[in-house]
Amino acid sequence: MSTALDLVSVTAGYGDNPIVREFSTTLDTGTITTLIGGNGAGKSTLLRAIYGTNRFFSGEIVFKGERVERLPPWERLKRGVGFVPQGRCNFPAMSVEENLKMGCYTLTGGKHEPAIARVIGLFPMLRQKWLTEAGNLSGGEQQILEMAMVLLLEPSLLLLDEPSLGLSPRMQGDVFTTVQQIAATGVTVLVVEQNVRGALLISDRALVMEQGRKFMEGPAAEVRTDPRIRQAYLGGNIQQSAA
Ligand SMILES: Nc1ncnc2c1ncn2[C@@H]1O[C@H](COP(=O)(O)OP(=O)(O)O)[C@@H](O)[C@H]1O
Ligand SMILES: [Mg+2]
Repeated sequence: MSTALDLVSVTAGYGDNPIVREFSTTLDTGTITTLIGGNGAGKSTLLRAIYGTNRFFSGEIVFKGERVERLPPWERLKRGVGFVPQGRCNFPAMSVEENLKMGCYTLTGGKHEPAIARVIGLFPMLRQKWLTEAGNLSGGEQQILEMAMVLLLEPSLLLLDEPSLGLSPRMQGDVFTTVQQIAATGVTVLVVEQNVRGALLISDRALVMEQGRKFMEGPAAEVRTDPRIRQAYLGGNIQQSAA
């Protein structure tokens, strides 16, 4: 199995404050990894560090064999790092069609149509809602549109921050199915999820973060049955047990 991403002792944060500290892991190509951790643990900060939108202090980020930790986000995007931040819908007053065309802005002209055709093939819902304003889509549909816009650029690594937040259990299931479909095309996925139970079920591996540091890492099936994880993240919480 080939390596998609290597994090070597990554320390990153904001201003003068390192939040994520000495975080190391390896993601294999085409796998799904869930990043678990309490509120404020530094999960979003780690995703931003991989994409390059916060302060990098030290360590190495090796993407497909190349050091990228000093490259700006657009250079990482060009190389195939796709990031869907938390919160949905970039252009709510524009139709699905217009959103997808916006999403193609970095592609050269001739590539727009095949790129849009490809994501419609992956998510036929987009074709059905072609002229609907994005702001009028359901939460789950907006999330799928956001993923589609990033997938237009054919990333080989997809970073997803809480893609199912605020969705009904059924729509959460749809988002998870979508993530599996994306990974089945060979894309490596790193996902932060509040629905820990649901995310672990579709993941190959899990990373657990506490106070900015790696606390545990392993096959998702093993992390799921670890007593400490069950206690901390798979307890009686209604949202987590919904999936
Ligand atoms: N833009 C920011 N500027 C300064 N500090 C931030 C910023 N975003 C997050 N933080 C701080 O970083 C820590 C981790 O936040 P975050 O990575 O968002 O956690 P998580 O995603 O695990 O809930 C928190 O203490 C938070 O206050
Ligand atoms: Mg977060």
